[in-house]
Amino acid sequence: MSSRVETLEFQAEARQLLQLMVHSIYSNKDIFLRELISNASDALDKLRIASLVDDGPRVDPADLQIEIEVDREQRTLTVRDNGVGMSRDEVVGLIGTIAKSGTAELLRKLRESKDTASSDLIGQFGVGFYSTFMVADQVTLLTGRAGESGGTRWESDGGGTYVIETVDDAPRGTAVTVHLKPEDSEDRLFDYTDENKIREIVKRYSDFIAWPIRLVAGPGESSRDAEGDEAGESGEEADDKPLNSMKALWARPQSEVDKAEYDEFYRHLSHDWNDPLEVIHMKGEGTFEYEALLFIPSRAPFDMFTRDARRGVQLYVKRVFIMDDCAELLPNYLRFVKGVVDAHDLSLNISREILQQDRRIQLVRRRLVKKVLASVRALQETDPERYRTFWNEFGAAVKEGLVDDVDNQEAILDIVSVESTSDAGPATTLREYVERMKDGQNEIYYLTGDSRAMIENSPHMEAFQARDYEVLILTDPVDEVWVERVAQFDGRPLQSIAKGQVDLGTDDEKKSNELEREQQRKDFAALLPWLAGKLQEDVKEVRLSTRLTTSPACLVGDTFDLTPALEKMYRAMGQNVPHTQRILELNPTHPLIVGLRKAHEQDPDATVLAETGDLLYGMALLAEGGELRDPARFSRLLADRLASAL
Ligand SMILES: Nc1ncnc2c1ncn2[C@@H]1O[C@H](COP(=O)(O)OP(=O)(O)O)[C@@H](O)[C@H]1O
Ligand SMILES: [Mg+2]
Repeated sequence: MSSRVETLEFQAEARQLLQLMVHSIYSNKDIFLRELISNASDALDKLRIASLVDDGPRVDPADLQIEIEVDREQRTLTVRDNGVGMSRDEVVGLIGTIAKSGTAELLRKLRESKDTASSDLIGQFGVGFYSTFMVADQVTLLTGRAGESGGTRWESDGGGTYVIETVDDAPRGTAVTVHLKPEDSEDRLFDYTDENKIREIVKRYSDFIAWPIRLVAGPGESSRDAEGDEAGESGEEADDKPLNSMKALWARPQSEVDKAEYDEFYRHLSHDWNDPLEVIHMKGEGTFEYEALLFIPSRAPFDMFTRDARRGVQLYVKRVFIMDDCAELLPNYLRFVKGVVDAHDLSLNISREILQQDRRIQLVRRRLVKKVLASVRALQETDPERYRTFWNEFGAAVKEGLVDDVDNQEAILDIVSVESTSDAGPATTLREYVERMKDGQNEIYYLTGDSRAMIENSPHMEAFQARDYEVLILTDPVDEVWVERVAQFDGRPLQSIAKGQVDLGTDDEKKSNELEREQQRKDFAALLPWLAGKLQEDVKEVRLSTRLTTSPACLVGDTFDLTPALEKMYRAMGQNVPHTQRILELNPTHPLIVGLRKAHEQDPDATVLAETGDLLYGMALLAEGGELRDPARFSRLLADRLASAL
C-alpha cells in the first residue's frame, strides 16, 4: 500500500479556533487531558455499541481501556484508547473541520469580546481536541478504524495545516501524542509528564469515566517508578490499578456526590465547559427501576432552534451505555436538558423503535418532565436570579410545550415569564399578574406584536393605559401560537386586547356612559354602514370603539379570528388560509371622526369622503404594524390631503 502523504489546510473556522487555543485564551490548561480522555471514552462507548449488532466487530468489553503514557526525555504524553478509531476520511472530517452550527457566530463574538470574556464564550462551544494546542507545540494522532486494516497518522503544530498519511500498521483505536511546550507554571502550564499531576487531573476531571484509565510505563521508565502508591503493593499490581474509580455518578446516593463531581460529569456529558445551572438527580423505584441524572445548562446551545437540534439525554441499561440523544426520554421542548437515564430492566439490544412503544419508557418520560418543570418552579421561588437566567436562555423553547404538551400546560404556565406594562419589573409571572389584577377584573389582558415599543404604542392599548390596566406584552413568535391554545390561567381567561369588545370601568361608570353611547349610536347610525360598504373588501364591520382615547381608529378581531401575524405564519408554512376580515373601530370623540360624520351628513357621495375612509383604514393598519396593500395609493391620497390643507 502506498502511504499517501498529504499536507492539508484546516478549514477557516478551525484555523481561527486553533489560533485562540495556541494563544491560550483559556487559563486552565489542565483540561486538555480531560478532553482527550473524554474523546477516548466516547470512542470506547461507540465500539461497544457497534459490537452489539450481529455483524459488528468482536470485542471483549473487559479489554477496553484508556492508557496514558509519558516520556519524560522526549516530553511527550500519549492518551491511547482501543475504541472505534477513525478512517482517513473521518480524521479529515472530524479533526480538520468544525461541523458544529453557529461556529461563525461564535467566532464573531469572540473577536468582538476582545479576549476578556473569551474563555466564557469558548465554553459554550467546547473546542475539545484542539485544546491540546494549549499545552503542545506538536500533536500526533495515530488511529486504526475498527474492522479496517491499516491506519492513519495525523500531525500538526497548530498552524494552518496538518499532515495526514496512510500507514500500513496501526492497532485498533486512537493514540494522541502531545509534544509538550516547556513548563511555565506562571501561565498555569504545568509539567504534564509528572505522574502525580496526571493522577490529580484524572481524579479531578475524569473519575466517573466508565472505562479504566491506566498509567503505563513509557520507554525508558520502569513500572516501579510509580509514586504515591501505598507501601506493600508490588509495582506490577499498582500499575494495573485504574486511576479512576469508574463509579457511575448517577448510581451513587445524592448525599455522597459533591457539586464539583456533578459539574465535571456534566462537562463530560455535554461537551460544555461551563457549570450547569441546575442538577436534577432522581431515582425511580417499584416495578420499573431507574436512575436519572439531569442537568439544565447555564446557556442555550447555538442550535436550539435549528430543525435537527440534538437531544441531550443518554440512555444506559444497568451502567452500560446504550444510546446518545435519546429522544424518547424527554419532549422536544425540553431538548436543552442534558443527562443520563439508567433503566435497569431493559434489554441491552433495545432499538429506538421498541423504545418508542415501551410503556415503561413513557412512564419515565412523564416523571422526568414533571421533575424538570418542578425544579424550575422551585428555582423561581428559591433563587429568582438563576430562574431568570433559565428563562432568558430557554423560555422560548419551553413555551413550545404550551402547545405540544397539553397534559403539563398548567405546570408550564406556572414557570412562564412574560413582559408586561407593569412597572413592577421587566417581566412577570402569570401568578404575579393575577395578584395585581384590579377589583372586578376577570381576564388576563395581553397583546402580541413584533416589539415592546410597537405594542406599548398601539392604539389598542389606549383605554387600558388610561385606566391603568396591566397588559402582558408578548413578542416571541411562539407567543402568537400558544395564546391561541391556552384558554385560561388559574380560572382567568386570557384575552387579547385587540380582540372582541372592551368593557372597562366600574358598574357605575358603565351606567353613566350608557346614555352617552346611546346618543353616539344615533349620531353615527348613517356613517357606520356607509363606511363598512366602502371598505367591504378588508373589513367586516365598522363600529364605535370604547378602547380608543387619542387615536381616531383601530382594527380588531373577533375572539376566534386569526390574528394577522398568525395568518402570515400559516402562509409562510405553505398553508392556504382564507384572508381574515377585520373590524374597524372608530373613536367617536376624535375630531377626524366627528368631522367625517358631519361631512357625510352633508354630502354622502363626495369622493373626498371615500378617500378619507381609505386613509383611516390605512392609518389603523399602520398603527398596529400591519402592511398596506397599496402603499403608493396611500401616500398619494395622503399627499393630496396635506396639500389641500396648506
Ligand atoms: N480518540 C478518538 N477516537 C475516535 N474518534 C475521536 C477521538 N478523538 C476525537 N475523535 C473524533 O473527533 C471528533 C472531534 O472531537 P472533539 O474536538 O473533542 O469534539 P467533540 O468530542 O465535542 O465531538 C469527535 O466527535 C470524534 O468523532
Ligand atoms: Mg471531545
